[in-house]
Amino acid sequence: MNRRYRKTIIAGNWKMNKTPSETKAFAEEFKALLPKTKWCDVVLCVPFVDLPAAVRGFKDSRVSVGAENLYFEKSGAFTGEVSADMLVDLDVKYVIIGHSERRQYFGETDVTVNKKVHTALEAGLSPIICVGESLEQREMGVTMELIALQVKSALAGVPAEQMRRCVIAYEPIWAIGTGKTATGDQAAEVCSFIRATIRSLYGARIARGVTIQYGGSMNPKNAAELLSHEDIDGGLIGGASLKPDQLMEIVHAANQD
Ligand code: PGA
Repeated sequence: MNRRYRKTIIAGNWKMNKTPSETKAFAEEFKALLPKTKWCDVVLCVPFVDLPAAVRGFKDSRVSVGAENLYFEKSGAFTGEVSADMLVDLDVKYVIIGHSERRQYFGETDVTVNKKVHTALEAGLSPIICVGESLEQREMGVTMELIALQVKSALAGVPAEQMRRCVIAYEPIWAIGTGKTATGDQAAEVCSFIRATIRSLYGARIARGVTIQYGGSMNPKNAAELLSHEDIDGGLIGGASLKPDQLMEIVHAANQD
């Protein structure tokens, strides 16, 4: 983390978990645990149907609510999809874009990711853009090339003034939901590389201000070590974000000096 130049953001990604009633109960429990002093940004990204309960539950608290996806068209005949305007109207602030599960199971590509990033930014949302390599790609030694490709294509055509609202999440696919966390050094190496890629596109000042998260089996035990690295500015947390006490422990790890 480097709080001097950029925000530290701890974000939960609930994936396809919890009903609206469970969301309400989570919000009550989580709010009761919130620290009074010292604070990193906290975002909870929840399934579409849970968004109203999450927004209501976290109203008047410092927790922001995010969606896990959106569609890039403004409106129209796209049965089952959700637009950026619908999210904004609900008071949603963030949206995860290009999570590896969406790339793997739902045909998301670098091209659709780029379209969705533009749609989110134009609507005033902050995209959390996910990038990451598979185990095979890491073993083939192409991690950095792949990450550069994913970052550059996600950001293609994004003007510098909108970059401030973009968050990048480095999520090695082999570490997601596997209990196999990247070591702090492995995660930091790629996060610094992502910052260098952004620097080559937008210059040093903007690159310094971008929040770059790590995601993949982050938990209360490994969070402090991961977050102690200069270029890791928070986490995108799946499994451990489903339990209020565990997510709060990670928030505390991010509140260290
Ligand atoms: P995990 O998921 O923390 O359960 O590994 C992270 C993510 O997929 O965002």
